[in-house]
Amino acid sequence: MNRSISVAEKRVDGPAKVTGKALYAADFNQPDQAYAVIVGASIGLGRVTAVDTAPVLALPGVLAVISHLNAPRLAYRPHRGLIDPGVGERLHVLQDDQVQLFGQPVAVVVAQTLDQAERGAMALSISYEAKTPNVDVHDARSVKIVPDALRVEGADRSRGDPDRPPAADAVSIDASYGIARENHTPIELHATVAAWNGGQLTLWSKSQFVVNERLEIAAVFGLRPEQVRVICPFVGGAFGTSLRTWPHVTLAAMAARMVDRPVKLVLSRRQTFHTTGHRPRSVQRVALSATPDGKLTRVIHEGAAETSRYEQFTEALITATPYLYSCPNVRVQYRLIPLDTGTPTHMRAPGEASGMFALESAMDELAYALNLDPLELRRRNEPRIDEGANLPFSSRSLLQCYEAGAAQFGWSKRSFQPRSMRDGRLLLGWGMASAVYPVWYIPADARARLVADGTFEVEAAASDMGPGTYTSITQVAAQVLGVPMTEVKIRLGDSNYPRTPPHGGSMTMASVGSAVYAACEALQAEIAARLAAGSHPELSGAQPDELEWHEGKLRRRGQSASGFGYRELLSQLGGQPVEATATGSRDPSVAEKFSMAAYGAVFVEVAVDPDVCTIAVRRMVGAYGAGRIINPRLARSQCIGGMIGGIGMALMESTVLDARDGRPVNAHLADYLLPVNLDIGNIEVHFVDEHDPHVNVLGAKGIGEVALVGAAPAIANAIFHATGKRLRQLPIRIENLLDAQ
Ligand code: MOS
Repeated sequence: MNRSISVAEKRVDGPAKVTGKALYAADFNQPDQAYAVIVGASIGLGRVTAVDTAPVLALPGVLAVISHLNAPRLAYRPHRGLIDPGVGERLHVLQDDQVQLFGQPVAVVVAQTLDQAERGAMALSISYEAKTPNVDVHDARSVKIVPDALRVEGADRSRGDPDRPPAADAVSIDASYGIARENHTPIELHATVAAWNGGQLTLWSKSQFVVNERLEIAAVFGLRPEQVRVICPFVGGAFGTSLRTWPHVTLAAMAARMVDRPVKLVLSRRQTFHTTGHRPRSVQRVALSATPDGKLTRVIHEGAAETSRYEQFTEALITATPYLYSCPNVRVQYRLIPLDTGTPTHMRAPGEASGMFALESAMDELAYALNLDPLELRRRNEPRIDEGANLPFSSRSLLQCYEAGAAQFGWSKRSFQPRSMRDGRLLLGWGMASAVYPVWYIPADARARLVADGTFEVEAAASDMGPGTYTSITQVAAQVLGVPMTEVKIRLGDSNYPRTPPHGGSMTMASVGSAVYAACEALQAEIAARLAAGSHPELSGAQPDELEWHEGKLRRRGQSASGFGYRELLSQLGGQPVEATATGSRDPSVAEKFSMAAYGAVFVEVAVDPDVCTIAVRRMVGAYGAGRIINPRLARSQCIGGMIGGIGMALMESTVLDARDGRPVNAHLADYLLPVNLDIGNIEVHFVDEHDPHVNVLGAKGIGEVALVGAAPAIANAIFHATGKRLRQLPIRIENLLDAQ
């Protein structure tokens, strides 16, 4: 029989990618296309007082210089997509003279060629009235506010009596943690090609959410959604930065309308640090108490993160804390710090990755205060139910992850004392941390079609930013249809295809996979119904429950004959294609009945040079319980990527803002440090067997984000074990270790 799910298939789009046939947003070209370049504000706060357009318009090839002085007033109808902040209003571009952040688009130069547009943008002189922005969470002017819209459930939540003084023999720790602002830095830059055809607008645009980009651009321009089409078959990495529709998309469409030609607009690497979101800088406090034998008696987790002045971006900074461990007295608090900066957005396990750095560092500190193995401390606090929501877990394999990860890593050979393990003159450190990420599910639609040659097409609007969605949903379709994967062609990334939720939150497999599953079943039902209604000698007149599909063939139920294959059935139907659209379904009450999350455990070995404090991550083992793994090869690759993201977060990534004007000073890949091959040691991934009948029809929890959570604290904990120094600010760099001596 054809079995595709759980097989380590190779990427179906691999050949297209390595031969350059896969087209990314900036690869699309339109006849007579012009080029637009954004001019960003060179101040961090204030207003534009003059734009000297005449000299630039005189340059060769320049078609237009657009600023608030001549830009059309756009409709900016109210629109809030699933990934937009719940409170505030998006940045409106070129609608007035106000500057709210460094790099905010204040003009666009459009020219015949990219070179001419860049030259014009460089030559454009803009005058400002500048004020000093506040871009620092620690600035005396910074104020912590309670978020208005608690999309993160509850800014303050507690159970028991977390503020009661701990018992006399309790062991307690209380520490503050900080994480730098980070940028997503995918290899593919943001890009949009915009073309108007009368009142119809087509955008070839980098997006993790073409469904929303269509609705948003329609709202911005005052169009009906059917007037906008967004196409994005491939995304060259995004990590969350292309979930929202940022101002450059509006500017590309505006420019195309003003010059009455298609326009291509590609952000520079530097510009991607301005108005395309970032992981917010966060400050956290964790206070823990435990009995002398290591049972948690108190957990306090307070987190605050920056947002912009015009929107309240909230994320799940403290939301996993109430259910990760068992503890009778828990309080979590969440605050925002509005600054003169662009709005942050979701980035690589948003919230959980930052929050778990604090909690899992604190657990390590508590383990050392208790003189207890850090893994054993966690084992002793494994809950039986989700004590935050008071719900049973749909499944939870954290203990098995500890077990499997520890065995693979060799944790039992660890000596407890810091600075006690060496390799020659290098200090070795072994650290670990738990990982958790919730199972998101938003219903999606998909369409399946049996085409005239007897093969299948499946369509959904979802993007594939690299996890292998083309491949994994081909596997789902092939298995349901009972055909080899080569018979199924998946089409993604077009807002004209059936609607899907954001390609993020680790939910694509669950949501879009379930929709594809449903669409293929619906297609089979449609084919069977047509055969039953037709004149087929054996199938004609059958009731739906008298027919069954078996290994890609239709037969009368209970018959041992192999039945009729799709090509045979198709010819009975006159060779006409058959299609069906369906919505993925899941018991709507399941979220009220179960606490659903993926779990993991990450183990790390670092080697630290005791003299110059270089830090090398030599080995990482990640063990994950994430439900059914649809494709072990792709899943392993996802987890390796996630853990490498954790190395970046722990040791390298930090966007530094100039206090004078809010300018990101390291807005390029030379100074924004990221892990490269030389920074990566041996990475091993282990999936524990986990069957979860509740999460969705596929039993898949999603792995993209849980893979990153836990990696950064495991590294920080390993650095403590190597050096005896507790570094509570990320990233941890050579200079931080040197300073700590
Ligand atoms: Mo992911 S941060 O949900 O793209």
